[in-house]
Amino acid sequence: MIRKLAISAVAALGLSGGAALAAGGDEAHVDDFAFSFEGPFGVFDQAQLQRGLQIFTEVCSSCHGLQYLYFRNLADDGGPGYMPDQARAYAAGFEVYDPELEDFRTATPADRFPAVTSVGAPDLSLMAKARAGFHGPFGLGINQVFRGMGGPEYIASLMTGYTGETKEEAGVTLYENTAFPGGWLSMAPPLLGEDVEYADGHANDLHHEAEDIAAFLMWTAEPKMMARKQAGFLGVIFLAVLSVLLYLSNKRLWAGVKGGKSAG
Ligand code: HEC
Repeated sequence: MIRKLAISAVAALGLSGGAALAAGGDEAHVDDFAFSFEGPFGVFDQAQLQRGLQIFTEVCSSCHGLQYLYFRNLADDGGPGYMPDQARAYAAGFEVYDPELEDFRTATPADRFPAVTSVGAPDLSLMAKARAGFHGPFGLGINQVFRGMGGPEYIASLMTGYTGETKEEAGVTLYENTAFPGGWLSMAPPLLGEDVEYADGHANDLHHEAEDIAAFLMWTAEPKMMARKQAGFLGVIFLAVLSVLLYLSNKRLWAGVKGGKSAG
């Protein structure tokens, strides 16, 4: 029986390893950034989310939408920590199309960030969940167990992964990037370092900017992460207490039967 199991396990390993090798023609390289929100007790760094929002506003929003995020979310718990009137003031910087007015009007906290489709750039709301940075080894996904899915790491590595090489293909300029599967994408390097001047005086070299925008996009993809971790932690404590109670009541229930062994 055990031998059979072992043989089939080895066979499965061999198969998936083979598949991974066959698929892995173009190995993309993703760096392991240390984010504050990693691990069961990790939390978003409020100041970092604010810096990421600043990068998104000043750099990415000209091409990318964030259409699943509401302006009011900026004032939610576990987010960038805006006050409701700050979120209102931020929203006032955007125009949204109102089907009732059949016209554009100033955005309010109840509106979503605009969807931007003009240059064919994908929406970034859920990007950090839509990409995996870590794979394998051999298609087993063990790296993801230990290092996480790597969505934000992928985005940060994409920002820092440009080699400077370009090529023309069917009239489109493509830029070489070591993190992008396939190696070439049509987005010119959006960050070069010192693209924004942070209000909190944080370092604004390319590495830090990449980290900040990636953390911000992780928050847009999972704005309730803090609440989820907290609920999970409470659940574990609850189950631990429950186990102790069950053990003790089990002992007491059976005490009469098991207690007098000699009477047996
Ligand atoms: C000048 C327009 C432009 C700007 C500015 C821009 N992007 Fe892009 N971005 C694009 C386009 C176009 C694509 C699609 C590229 C492709 O698939 O070849 C893209 C794709 C992406 C992708 C998806 C890559 C993938 O795995 O499919 C991410 C992530 C991304 N951009 C992040 C950003 C971030 C973060 C910023 C701001 C720091 C930014 N972009 C600024 C045009 C832009």
